Amino acid sequence: MRRPITPHPVHGPLIAPSLLAADFSRLGFEVGRVERAGAKWLHLDIMDGHFVPNLSFGPEIVKALRKRARLFFDVHLMCSRPQVLLEPFTRAGADQITVHVELGDQVMSLLWKIRSLGCKAGLAVNPPTAMKHAEPYLRHIDYLLVMTVNPGFGGQAFVGETVPKIQQADGWRRQSGRSFRVAVDGGITAETARECARAGADTFICGTSVFGHHNLGAALRRIGRAVNGVGAGSADG
Ligand code: DX5
Ligand code: ZN
Repeated sequence: MRRPITPHPVHGPLIAPSLLAADFSRLGFEVGRVERAGAKWLHLDIMDGHFVPNLSFGPEIVKALRKRARLFFDVHLMCSRPQVLLEPFTRAGADQITVHVELGDQVMSLLWKIRSLGCKAGLAVNPPTAMKHAEPYLRHIDYLLVMTVNPGFGGQAFVGETVPKIQQADGWRRQSGRSFRVAVDGGITAETARECARAGADTFICGTSVFGHHNLGAALRRIGRAVNGVGAGSADG
Protein backbone atom coordinates (compact mmCIF):
# COMPACT_ATOMS: atom_id res chain seq x y z
CA MET A 1 0.00 0.00 0.00
CA ARG A 2 1.60 3.26 -1.09
CA ARG A 3 1.31 6.42 0.94
CA PRO A 4 -1.60 8.72 0.01
CA ILE A 5 -0.87 11.20 -2.76
CA THR A 6 0.43 14.46 -1.34
CA PRO A 7 -2.43 16.96 -1.14
CA HIS A 8 -2.19 19.55 -3.88
CA PRO A 9 -4.45 22.07 -5.55
CA VAL A 10 -6.49 20.50 -8.32
CA HIS A 11 -7.82 23.64 -9.95
CA GLY A 12 -6.26 26.88 -11.08
CA PRO A 13 -2.79 27.79 -12.32
CA LEU A 14 0.14 26.08 -10.71
CA ILE A 15 3.87 26.72 -10.89
CA ALA A 16 6.07 23.63 -10.63
CA PRO A 17 9.76 24.42 -10.07
CA SER A 18 12.06 22.02 -11.91
CA LEU A 19 14.87 20.63 -9.79
CA LEU A 20 17.10 20.33 -12.86
CA ALA A 21 18.03 23.98 -12.42
CA ALA A 22 18.81 23.66 -8.68
CA ASP A 23 22.28 23.43 -7.16
CA PHE A 24 23.07 19.69 -7.50
CA SER A 25 25.71 19.88 -4.78
CA ARG A 26 22.97 20.44 -2.18
CA LEU A 27 19.71 19.02 -3.48
CA GLY A 28 18.12 18.41 -0.07
CA PHE A 29 18.65 22.03 0.89
CA GLU A 30 17.23 23.21 -2.45
CA VAL A 31 14.07 21.13 -2.01
CA GLY A 32 13.50 22.60 1.44
CA ARG A 33 14.16 26.08 0.13
CA VAL A 34 11.61 25.84 -2.69
CA GLU A 35 8.97 24.36 -0.38
CA ARG A 36 9.47 27.18 2.13
CA ALA A 37 9.16 29.64 -0.77
CA GLY A 38 5.59 28.41 -1.28
CA ALA A 39 5.84 25.84 -4.09
CA LYS A 40 3.33 22.97 -3.98
CA TRP A 41 4.78 20.84 -6.77
CA LEU A 42 8.32 19.79 -7.62
CA HIS A 43 9.11 18.71 -11.18
CA LEU A 44 11.79 15.99 -11.34
CA ASP A 45 13.44 15.44 -14.74
CA ILE A 46 14.72 11.91 -15.27
CA MET A 47 17.05 11.53 -18.26
CA ASP A 48 18.59 8.27 -19.44
CA GLY A 49 21.27 9.39 -21.92
CA HIS A 50 19.35 7.60 -24.70
CA PHE A 51 15.88 9.11 -25.13
CA VAL A 52 17.63 12.43 -24.55
CA PRO A 53 21.38 13.16 -24.78
CA ASN A 54 21.82 13.83 -21.07
CA LEU A 55 21.73 12.09 -17.68
CA SER A 56 20.19 13.45 -14.51
CA PHE A 57 19.33 11.35 -11.45
CA GLY A 58 17.43 8.22 -10.46
CA PRO A 59 14.99 6.83 -7.90
CA GLU A 60 17.47 6.74 -5.01
CA ILE A 61 17.88 10.50 -5.17
CA VAL A 62 14.11 10.98 -5.38
CA LYS A 63 13.66 8.68 -2.38
CA ALA A 64 16.15 10.71 -0.36
CA LEU A 65 14.44 13.97 -1.31
CA ARG A 66 11.00 12.56 -0.49
CA LYS A 67 11.99 12.57 3.18
CA ARG A 68 12.70 16.28 3.03
CA ALA A 69 9.39 17.61 1.68
CA ARG A 70 5.65 17.24 1.36
CA LEU A 71 5.73 18.67 -2.15
CA PHE A 72 3.78 16.89 -4.89
CA PHE A 73 6.47 14.96 -6.81
CA ASP A 74 5.92 15.25 -10.55
CA VAL A 75 8.33 12.81 -12.21
CA HIS A 76 9.03 13.45 -15.90
CA LEU A 77 10.58 10.36 -17.50
CA MET A 78 12.65 11.21 -20.56
CA CYS A 79 13.66 7.59 -20.91
CA SER A 80 13.51 4.94 -23.64
CA ARG A 81 12.51 2.10 -21.29
CA PRO A 82 10.23 3.68 -18.68
CA GLN A 83 8.56 0.33 -17.97
CA VAL A 84 11.51 -0.68 -15.81
CA LEU A 85 11.36 2.59 -13.86
CA LEU A 86 7.69 2.93 -12.92
CA GLU A 87 7.80 0.79 -9.79
CA PRO A 88 11.15 2.16 -8.54
CA PHE A 89 9.94 5.75 -8.88
CA THR A 90 6.60 4.94 -7.26
CA ARG A 91 8.40 3.34 -4.32
CA ALA A 92 10.67 6.38 -4.18
CA GLY A 93 7.65 8.64 -3.65
CA ALA A 94 6.44 9.88 -7.03
CA ASP A 95 2.90 11.29 -6.97
CA GLN A 96 2.66 11.61 -10.74
CA ILE A 97 4.68 10.00 -13.53
CA THR A 98 4.82 11.36 -17.07
CA VAL A 99 5.93 9.35 -20.09
CA HIS A 100 6.44 10.51 -23.68
CA VAL A 101 3.99 9.90 -26.51
CA GLU A 102 7.00 9.31 -28.80
CA LEU A 103 7.27 5.84 -27.23
CA GLY A 104 4.38 4.79 -29.48
CA ASP A 105 2.98 1.31 -28.89
CA GLN A 106 4.13 1.21 -25.28
CA VAL A 107 2.18 4.28 -24.18
CA MET A 108 -1.19 2.73 -23.34
CA SER A 109 0.26 0.05 -21.11
CA LEU A 110 2.58 2.54 -19.43
CA LEU A 111 -0.33 4.86 -18.54
CA TRP A 112 -2.35 1.95 -17.27
CA LYS A 113 0.56 0.74 -15.16
CA ILE A 114 1.19 4.21 -13.69
CA ARG A 115 -2.41 4.48 -12.54
CA SER A 116 -2.46 0.92 -11.24
CA LEU A 117 0.52 1.86 -9.05
CA GLY A 118 -1.58 4.65 -7.52
CA CYS A 119 0.13 7.56 -9.26
CA LYS A 120 -1.36 10.21 -11.49
CA ALA A 121 -0.48 9.68 -15.15
CA GLY A 122 1.00 12.26 -17.50
CA LEU A 123 1.75 12.28 -21.22
CA ALA A 124 4.41 14.53 -22.78
CA VAL A 125 4.64 15.67 -26.40
CA ASN A 126 7.93 16.89 -27.89
CA PRO A 127 8.00 19.99 -30.13
CA PRO A 128 8.37 18.08 -33.44
CA THR A 129 5.60 15.58 -32.56
CA ALA A 130 2.08 16.28 -33.83
CA MET A 131 -0.62 16.60 -31.15
CA LYS A 132 -2.83 14.06 -32.92
CA HIS A 133 -0.60 11.34 -31.48
CA ALA A 134 -1.73 12.30 -27.97
CA GLU A 135 -5.47 12.38 -28.71
CA PRO A 136 -6.15 8.62 -28.25
CA TYR A 137 -4.88 8.79 -24.67
CA LEU A 138 -6.88 11.71 -23.29
CA ARG A 139 -9.22 9.44 -21.33
CA HIS A 140 -6.26 7.87 -19.58
CA ILE A 141 -4.28 10.87 -18.37
CA ASP A 142 -4.34 13.43 -15.57
CA TYR A 143 -1.79 15.68 -17.21
CA LEU A 144 -0.87 16.63 -20.77
CA LEU A 145 2.62 18.10 -20.98
CA VAL A 146 3.38 20.21 -24.04
CA MET A 147 7.16 20.43 -24.32
CA THR A 148 8.09 23.98 -25.21
CA VAL A 149 11.75 23.08 -25.83
CA ASN A 150 13.38 19.93 -27.14
CA PRO A 151 13.95 17.92 -23.95
CA GLY A 152 17.33 17.16 -22.47
CA PHE A 153 18.62 20.40 -21.02
CA GLY A 154 17.50 23.28 -18.85
CA GLY A 155 17.98 26.90 -19.77
CA GLN A 156 16.90 26.69 -23.43
CA ALA A 157 14.84 29.29 -25.25
CA PHE A 158 11.06 28.82 -25.47
CA VAL A 159 9.91 27.48 -28.86
CA GLY A 160 7.03 29.78 -29.84
CA GLU A 161 5.76 27.39 -32.53
CA THR A 162 4.43 25.16 -29.73
CA VAL A 163 1.74 27.66 -28.67
CA PRO A 164 -0.94 26.29 -31.06
CA LYS A 165 -0.39 22.87 -29.48
CA ILE A 166 -1.36 24.32 -26.09
CA GLN A 167 -4.53 25.73 -27.68
CA GLN A 168 -5.26 22.31 -29.15
CA ALA A 169 -4.79 20.62 -25.75
CA ASP A 170 -7.07 23.13 -24.04
CA GLY A 171 -9.63 22.78 -26.84
CA TRP A 172 -9.75 19.01 -26.39
CA ARG A 173 -10.16 19.49 -22.65
CA ARG A 174 -13.09 21.86 -23.08
CA GLN A 175 -14.80 19.74 -25.72
CA SER A 176 -14.43 16.53 -23.76
CA GLY A 177 -15.24 18.01 -20.35
CA ARG A 178 -12.23 16.18 -18.96
CA SER A 179 -10.12 17.71 -16.23
CA PHE A 180 -6.51 16.86 -17.15
CA ARG A 181 -4.01 19.63 -16.55
CA VAL A 182 -2.34 21.28 -19.53
CA ALA A 183 1.31 21.86 -18.68
CA VAL A 184 4.20 23.57 -20.43
CA ASP A 185 7.85 22.72 -19.89
CA GLY A 186 10.96 24.50 -21.14
CA GLY A 187 11.95 28.13 -21.41
CA ILE A 188 9.08 29.24 -19.16
CA THR A 189 9.55 32.74 -17.75
CA ALA A 190 6.94 35.24 -16.55
CA GLU A 191 6.55 36.41 -20.14
CA THR A 192 6.29 33.02 -21.84
CA ALA A 193 4.11 31.69 -18.99
CA ARG A 194 1.63 34.47 -19.70
CA GLU A 195 1.59 33.61 -23.39
CA CYS A 196 1.01 29.94 -22.55
CA ALA A 197 -1.72 30.81 -20.02
CA ARG A 198 -3.51 32.79 -22.72
CA ALA A 199 -3.34 29.71 -24.94
CA GLY A 200 -4.90 27.57 -22.17
CA ALA A 201 -2.02 26.19 -20.08
CA ASP A 202 -2.57 25.94 -16.31
CA THR A 203 0.66 24.29 -15.14
CA PHE A 204 4.00 25.99 -15.63
CA ILE A 205 7.23 24.03 -15.22
CA CYS A 206 9.95 26.51 -14.36
CA GLY A 207 13.60 25.58 -13.94
CA THR A 208 15.94 28.47 -14.57
CA SER A 209 13.28 31.13 -14.00
CA VAL A 210 12.85 29.93 -10.40
CA PHE A 211 16.12 28.32 -9.27
CA GLY A 212 18.16 30.84 -11.23
CA HIS A 213 17.10 33.50 -8.73
CA HIS A 214 18.41 34.08 -5.26
CA ASN A 215 14.92 34.80 -3.90
CA LEU A 216 12.79 31.81 -4.93
CA GLY A 217 9.62 33.25 -3.37
CA ALA A 218 9.95 36.44 -5.39
CA ALA A 219 10.52 34.42 -8.58
CA LEU A 220 7.41 32.30 -7.92
CA ARG A 221 5.32 35.39 -7.17
CA ARG A 222 6.51 37.11 -10.34
CA ILE A 223 5.43 34.19 -12.54
CA GLY A 224 2.23 33.86 -10.51
CA ARG A 225 1.34 37.49 -11.16
CA ALA A 226 1.97 36.99 -14.89
CA VAL A 227 -0.51 34.12 -15.17
CA ASN A 228 -3.08 35.20 -12.59
CA GLY A 229 -6.31 36.38 -14.08
CA VAL A 230 -5.29 35.06 -17.52
CA GLY A 231 -6.90 31.65 -17.03
CA ALA A 232 -9.35 30.64 -14.31
CA GLY A 233 -8.50 30.85 -10.58
CA SER A 234 -5.34 32.15 -8.96
CA ALA A 235 -1.78 30.83 -9.10
CA ASP A 236 -0.47 28.57 -6.39
CA GLY A 237 3.31 28.48 -6.13
C1 DX5 B 1 13.90 19.89 -20.20
C2 DX5 B 1 13.18 19.53 -18.94
C3 DX5 B 1 12.66 20.71 -18.23
C4 DX5 B 1 13.71 21.67 -17.73
C5 DX5 B 1 13.18 23.05 -17.92
O1 DX5 B 1 14.26 18.73 -20.86
O2 DX5 B 1 12.09 18.66 -19.21
O3 DX5 B 1 11.79 20.35 -17.16
O4 DX5 B 1 14.05 21.48 -16.39
O5 DX5 B 1 14.20 23.96 -17.63
P1 DX5 B 1 14.07 25.50 -17.95
O6 DX5 B 1 12.86 26.02 -17.23
O7 DX5 B 1 15.35 26.06 -17.45
O8 DX5 B 1 13.91 25.63 -19.45
ZN1 ZN C 1 10.64 18.32 -17.52
